[in-house]
Amino acid sequence: MAQNTVLVLVGSLRKESVNRQLAELAAEVAPDGVAIARFDRLGELPFYNEDIDNESAPEPVVALREAAAGADAALVVTPEYNGSIPGVLKNAIDWLSRPYGAGALKDKPLAVVGAALGQYGGVWAHDETRKSFGIAGPRVVEDLELSLPAASLDGKHPRENAEVAAKVRDIVGKLVAEIG
Ligand SMILES: Cc1cc2nc3c(=O)[nH]c(=O)nc-3n(C[C@H](O)[C@H](O)[C@H](O)COP(=O)(O)O)c2cc1C
Repeated sequence: MAQNTVLVLVGSLRKESVNRQLAELAAEVAPDGVAIARFDRLGELPFYNEDIDNESAPEPVVALREAAAGADAALVVTPEYNGSIPGVLKNAIDWLSRPYGAGALKDKPLAVVGAALGQYGGVWAHDETRKSFGIAGPRVVEDLELSLPAASLDGKHPRENAEVAAKVRDIVGKLVAEIG
């Protein structure tokens, strides 16, 4: 059976990251026949530099672009840093935006969710991630939203919160339904 693949990018490198836990939950609740491919090497990407991109992209960049090319959709799970996108994620967006007009996620559906400590759950970062990816090439599915105040999890894994699990299941299902 043909299987759809969803690339998952997490905007936190922290071992105990709540956002990585949300990504784990997304994998657990994904519809049958959908493979979740989490790319965990964002911390290995060098800062974007057009010179090195034009010469020969470094191996972690090639791996990111291959993972993106092999995916049918993407789910981005990120916290908010200082009211905006964590640098590690913005850097990945810049690498994925090139070659200009022909990035590996071009026209593929992409959704942005995440958790942050603040009472608005990182909504500024999520809105800016949508804006930036919208310019970079993917087709952002704007109405798939989850900006979760981390305190609502009471220190537990998000899979233990039925409401959050249902919301993530709904978002992953609707994202997959967007695959053409
Ligand atoms: C450098 C830094 C900046 C942060 N800025 C914000 C912020 O602007 N808004 C917010 O809600 N939380 C902010 N936080 C708190 C994060 O939301 C919190 O650490 C969150 O758990 C990080 O996600 P993670 O658990 O996936 O690593 C910040 C944390 C760090 C380390």
